[in-house]
Amino acid sequence: MTGSRKIAVLGAGNVGGTLAQRLAEMDLADEIVLIDIVDGLPQGKALDIQESAPILGFSTRVTGSTSLDSIAGAEIVVETAGLARKPGMSRSDLTTKNAEILRDHALAVRAHAPNAIVIIVTNPVDVMTFWFRQVSGLPPARVFGESGTLDTARFRWFVADALKVAPRDVVGFVLGTHGDTMVPVLSHTSVSGVPLTKLMPKEQLDAIVARTKTGGGEIVNLLKMGSAYYAPSAAQAELVRAVVANEHRVLGVTAHLAGEYGLQDLCLGVPVVLGRAGVERVVEVTLSAEERAAFEASAAAVRADLAGLPPVTRAPA
Ligand code: LAC
Repeated sequence: MTGSRKIAVLGAGNVGGTLAQRLAEMDLADEIVLIDIVDGLPQGKALDIQESAPILGFSTRVTGSTSLDSIAGAEIVVETAGLARKPGMSRSDLTTKNAEILRDHALAVRAHAPNAIVIIVTNPVDVMTFWFRQVSGLPPARVFGESGTLDTARFRWFVADALKVAPRDVVGFVLGTHGDTMVPVLSHTSVSGVPLTKLMPKEQLDAIVARTKTGGGEIVNLLKMGSAYYAPSAAQAELVRAVVANEHRVLGVTAHLAGEYGLQDLCLGVPVVLGRAGVERVVEVTLSAEERAAFEASAAAVRADLAGLPPVTRAPA
């Protein structure tokens, strides 16, 4: 652990609460502040997590607050606030309401933690990442979204389960939007270097790809009262660690594209190099014709959602 490091988690729901717990147990920060508008919720969860410290051995101080001012000085802000999907809803159905919530948060980050790295989790994540960046005016490298790491984890698990191999030995990534048009990139997926396409018949692979695309919805339908949070918070914690420990990890995130993959003025899931500065660079890989077409369909779906955003109101620099 270095210096005096503060991580702010906005939203103390299932995702935010579980993330705060994971980050505390990783002992990455001096302080984690959990923030929510529902009085008692962030304070209660924070205290509950804090009381596990003697057993689990971490030194991180965990506090709860209902005030956005509490993000002051945070090195990392993770945005989990907003509505989650219910059965029958798409992630895009959340756009208007969540954009309103995130506007206030983006302005608060600009005012109180202008040097922070911001990780967006709120759905629809590709759109919310773009929105948060625009409203906050923060540099694009310091605002990115969690999506690909989670989608890839789901994909890797389904492959590992089918092949009966260790989940961590399945490597690859999922590109595009965090939605039904995401693109699991089979041409770059392997089990410790052995191409997946050599290990599995096409029909089985196709079934895994289809299940991955609706992986979030599968959990929503099972839970019936909200969306996933254990795997999402694990993915978010991995991104936080990559930044805090300056790991230069190559991970899938929703990043701002400025010409990479022939696209610009939107955020989309791509592999990036992630370190203390945030997104150090976007990694461009060669896609098959089919993957390329799917990726472009994904970009078109995000652009359609971006058109539904309200006008930007930004605080003066
Ligand atoms: C999911 C939601 C959180 O994929 O988007 O589980």
